[in-house]
Amino acid sequence: MCGIIGYIGGGNAAENVLEGLRRLEYRGYDSAGLAVIGGNGKISVVKRQGRVEKLAPLITEMRGCVGIGHTRWATHGRPCDANAHPHSAGAVTVVHNGIIENYAELKAAFIEKGETFFSETDSEVLAKLVNKNFSGDILTALAAAVKVVKGSYALMAICENTQAIAVAKSKSSVILGFGDGENFCASDEPALAGKCKNICSLEDGDIALITRDKIEIFDSKLKPVKRKLRPNVAVSASLDLCGCPHYMLKELKEVPASVKNTISAFYDVEGELKKALDGVNRIIIVGCGTAYHAGLLGKRYFESFARVPVEVETAGEFRYKDPVMTEKTAVFAISQSGETADTVEAARLALSMGAKVVAVTNAPYSQLTRLASVVVPVAAGPEICVAATKSYTGQITALYLAALAFAGKKTAELEKMPGLCQKVIEDIDINTLAQMCARSNGVYFLGKDLDYAVALEGSLKLKEVSYIPSEGYPAGELKHGTLALIDGNTVSVALMFDKALAGKCENAVEQVLSRGGRAAVITNDTEVYNNFSKRCEVLLLPECDKYLSPLISAVVVQAIAYETAVILGRDPDKPRNLAKSVTVE
Ligand code: F6R
Repeated sequence: MCGIIGYIGGGNAAENVLEGLRRLEYRGYDSAGLAVIGGNGKISVVKRQGRVEKLAPLITEMRGCVGIGHTRWATHGRPCDANAHPHSAGAVTVVHNGIIENYAELKAAFIEKGETFFSETDSEVLAKLVNKNFSGDILTALAAAVKVVKGSYALMAICENTQAIAVAKSKSSVILGFGDGENFCASDEPALAGKCKNICSLEDGDIALITRDKIEIFDSKLKPVKRKLRPNVAVSASLDLCGCPHYMLKELKEVPASVKNTISAFYDVEGELKKALDGVNRIIIVGCGTAYHAGLLGKRYFESFARVPVEVETAGEFRYKDPVMTEKTAVFAISQSGETADTVEAARLALSMGAKVVAVTNAPYSQLTRLASVVVPVAAGPEICVAATKSYTGQITALYLAALAFAGKKTAELEKMPGLCQKVIEDIDINTLAQMCARSNGVYFLGKDLDYAVALEGSLKLKEVSYIPSEGYPAGELKHGTLALIDGNTVSVALMFDKALAGKCENAVEQVLSRGGRAAVITNDTEVYNNFSKRCEVLLLPECDKYLSPLISAVVVQAIAYETAVILGRDPDKPRNLAKSVTVE
């Protein structure tokens, strides 16, 4: 998945496109490139492996009013200059976000006819297809090209001597921006923040032709269609680090505000949510990565508070399991970005089967928001670090409130949590534990019940930003195999926030210590603290309601991941091989 942007107007296209790419870099940062139609009608292309900023010195001489650009997260073909977009064929140049599933057979057919390919990407076949169908009109060429394509695409094409951008969409998002004497297209809204007054989203199968003064939209048969305009209220994330060395730390410090703002935002949608869930007798929660981990906690909340059966699935699995749903099923789709392909498609499937879809998202104008029956907002604010932090605690808060509302219950416990999160962030010293993790060969996060869900999140975060192998385990499972891996080079971190279950988890720590493993305990139970404080590293957190303890334990495990990454000299904000928004399967 990648970020794409197009500009046409009186300004310098290269500069406008580069600015858009900077804003889209969270969608991928393996390589970047842009193409501009110069005053002589010819197209110039610059592209480089690496971050968007590498393009800045290359565009100083580029003049032209039409441009398209791309920031890449590699799917087909390793990150390198040749695989970076744009890709050209004849007079045509394209940028593409998505995956062309039948690219191999299309490519083979071109090669048989003597065509040469310059990259290993699936996208280059799109340039070839548009060029093959081009006989002077870029719009009809694009419409003909996408007819033979299977897969997902947000595709922008330009051609020599033509002051226009042609755009096609299927599954991947395309937003069009209507400016004054200039127009835009982009893979998502933040790229257009403050750039134009109105925007609209293309629908699957749409093709658009963008010139300086107008935007025309057509269906796949090139029949004109209208798409609803809406005011452009997108805000680009504040890039201010507020004195922190990394966004990950800044965003961890914003956890208390995320919890507090999510509580306030919930009360505006509570009535609508209750109405939508009226008659629901089964809940399915879907999400990916960290959002899935929030879903595991959501299951416990709905089942404990409302005694309604809940299943939790990673969205990418759920889609392909032939799931059973009725109109009495509610599917909660959790996604920070609201653009994760697997989660959006899972929600679409649920809707098509008559289920109600509740989006739990931090992105009010995302694809997921647009298709959901109800949106429960996560008010974490823009998250720039690739690793999710404050959005996870916001998701937990939103799910806790949704479960209480469904059960018709109220509690004042949640109101205490922003203050407790703040206290934990200010007081807890995690440096010793992070040093242990940084020097280890592997870290096992252990817990039972709710603590196990947070253990999975701690493990994912540590892997993601420090690259240290890690696993999250139910404490009782350790002895069923994984104990064989424990030695003096491993660290086992046990989470114990449920008094009733602490004894069981303590056993697991004893088993680790008795086999020479290094161990650490994170708890808010003073008895557990006293048991281990002289024998291993123990972090004591404030007491709180057990259902809400993940809000404080999550902050600690995420902070350990951050600190470990910093000790090892990694960039926690942009870990290798990843992107913030995963818009492909
Ligand atoms: C991990 C992380 C990812 C995301 C996942 C889903 O730190 O950020 O695991 O949680 O890619 O993303 P969203 O929530 O945008 O659907």
